[in-house]
Amino acid sequence: MFLGIDIGTSSVKAVLTDAGGSDGGGVGAGTVAGSASRPCTVSRLHPQWSEQEPEDWVAAAIAAVDELAERQPAALAAVLGIGFSGQMHGAVLLGRDNQVLRPAILWNDGRSHRQCATLEETLPTLRTISGNIAMPGFTAPKLLWVAEEEPEVFAALAKVLLPKAYVRWRFTGAMVEEMSDASGTLWLDVARRGWSDELLAATRMTRAHMPELAEGSDAVARLSPDLARRWGMREPPVVAGGAGDCAASAVGLGAITPGDGFLSLGTSGVLWRTTDRFLPNPAMAVHAFCHALPGVWHQMGVMLSSAASLAWAASTLDAPEAELLAPLGDAVDGPSPVAFLPYLSGERTPHNDATIRGLFAGLSAETGRDALVQAVLEGVAFAARDNLVALGEGADAPTSLDLAGGGSRSRLWARICADVLGVTIHRIEDGEVGAALGAAHLGRMAATGESPAAVCRKPRRLESFTPDPARAEAYSRAWLRWRRLHPLAKEFAT
Ligand code: XUL
Repeated sequence: MFLGIDIGTSSVKAVLTDAGGSDGGGVGAGTVAGSASRPCTVSRLHPQWSEQEPEDWVAAAIAAVDELAERQPAALAAVLGIGFSGQMHGAVLLGRDNQVLRPAILWNDGRSHRQCATLEETLPTLRTISGNIAMPGFTAPKLLWVAEEEPEVFAALAKVLLPKAYVRWRFTGAMVEEMSDASGTLWLDVARRGWSDELLAATRMTRAHMPELAEGSDAVARLSPDLARRWGMREPPVVAGGAGDCAASAVGLGAITPGDGFLSLGTSGVLWRTTDRFLPNPAMAVHAFCHALPGVWHQMGVMLSSAASLAWAASTLDAPEAELLAPLGDAVDGPSPVAFLPYLSGERTPHNDATIRGLFAGLSAETGRDALVQAVLEGVAFAARDNLVALGEGADAPTSLDLAGGGSRSRLWARICADVLGVTIHRIEDGEVGAALGAAHLGRMAATGESPAAVCRKPRRLESFTPDPARAEAYSRAWLRWRRLHPLAKEFAT
């Protein structure tokens, strides 16, 4: 058995997998044998701030595994390998005695946009080494913000860890980071897969502030004997390098071969393409990062509010998401007359603008709840099309994408994405456990030495939606109109 633990923003998930049988994804494909999760809360003390207490992740992760231990004691006791994945970019700041100096500043925190401008100005090589624009979500500008705004915290700083590396350290005593998550710091030389002294110096830091680097499938530690005893394990399992949640989802979805792609509608949205080399495209605010497996990289476009837009609609309209979606059924005739721009927390790809805000347009006296909800689903799909364009619609553009994340539960959303993106969209088995499943696969590779090809199988496809030519044509026109609203969204920047 193998265990994947994903440190998400809204919850921590633990997933148990076995080595798989001969059905579904094929011989050896890990199947989900159990899962448990615990919610997490985000604190937003000021506009654009987004923080969490690292201790809460540790407590949530232990509680989720405790639940598995209670429900499936024999399966948990048989775990050989563990992988961690987690929300990317968050800064956990540790002092000299490894105490946490302040709450972690998260991936969707927009406070450091001024520091991003400073980094871009003072470091002309930033984009070529890191492959990315300085965006407030990334870790390095956050540290520059701390240096400027909380100098006493910065003076006490000894180490910076990303969320899953912090929890792993608490579970194992090993401070290690792996390439996929390290890519999102802006301190990594992404082509060379090593820390960059030049990038670190731009935020007044050195290698001493960084953990050791490993590949995601490397064995980097063992679970602490205390936790192993707590969960009935005879031998402390091997712990892998793991992955940032996007790369972990890719591992879980079998997107490990150059050209593989997927669309994830989680809190944030991700359009992913695996690449055989470092392929930066900062002009379009594309992220060019290392994959969690040796010798592969990836490009991705990131939407900051994807399923988060539907969650926002549900809380604003005061109805559960399922109740909002039910009247729309499984298909709509074509674009809603209402347009929605999903920039509730700003946008990364292609705008790189933390201050831009969302919009509804086209409202009339007849507009009801259903039209607003349809517009929200379409607005996220239109943003995904922007991402597809940013990744390049050339010869190697994907013709089909697996759909992952909480939004993949909706058949309607899958169909809208197919029509808007003009590609076949597959709804897949276990589409929602993506990152934790990928983390478990990395734990398995670390423990058994099996190859990525043997472990990372494509998930079983539940159903596939191909674009309907008439609707796709109507959506293309609606997307062009939707894009013209962008300058207006900027007018409402905070
Ligand atoms: C990726 C990103 C988000 C978080 C969400 O760059 O910021 O997908 O990892 O958990």
